[in-house]
Amino acid sequence: MEFEKVIRERFAARKFKDDVINDELINKILEAGNLAPTAKNSQPQKIYVVKSKEGLEKIDKASPCRYNAPVCIIVASDKNIAWSKGDYSTYEMDACIVATHMMLEATNLGVNNIWIEMFDKNILKEEFNLDANIEPICLIPLGYKTDDCIPSPMHKIRKDLSEIVEYK
Ligand SMILES: Cc1cc2nc3c(=O)[nH]c(=O)nc-3n(C[C@H](O)[C@H](O)[C@H](O)COP(=O)(O)O)c2cc1C
Repeated sequence: MEFEKVIRERFAARKFKDDVINDELINKILEAGNLAPTAKNSQPQKIYVVKSKEGLEKIDKASPCRYNAPVCIIVASDKNIAWSKGDYSTYEMDACIVATHMMLEATNLGVNNIWIEMFDKNILKEEFNLDANIEPICLIPLGYKTDDCIPSPMHKIRKDLSEIVEYK
């Protein structure tokens, strides 16, 4: 898909069919995340692909926002690996870029998706036995939208560039 088309077609999908995603597509999505830039190339991201029934049940304990997606990626970041200086660390920033790469590649492949931050970090960490240094950053439910799943009204609301851009 043309990149222009990808960024214009992506929207937050909130109703997924049961249909599974084949592993080849999942791998392409993971590879796209792996190409993301990270501070000092530290690559602190930890990616958990959840598609087993038990795993998805764990996701549902931590978040109401899986929307029946058959696959849910947990994008996490290792605070011990991320570039840092004093109190400042790029662990979250790095993981967000990785997540964005994956969302856009999913869209490119016709796999619908959504970025989820509404989840309980403690429950997620406990359910998936994540070490203390592994910080979950977001969830990305992946799948094929139902026929009646359309972009929310918010999707079309974008500020005018003149409101957010200044040339200096
Ligand atoms: C950082 C971030 C957190 C989000 N968290 C949630 C969430 O927890 N639940 C949800 O349904 N949508 C969530 N979304 C989706 C946004 O609501 C959605 O992207 C936004 O309204 C714009 O709509 P669009 O993605 O269709 O263009 C999140 C998006 C971002 C970027």
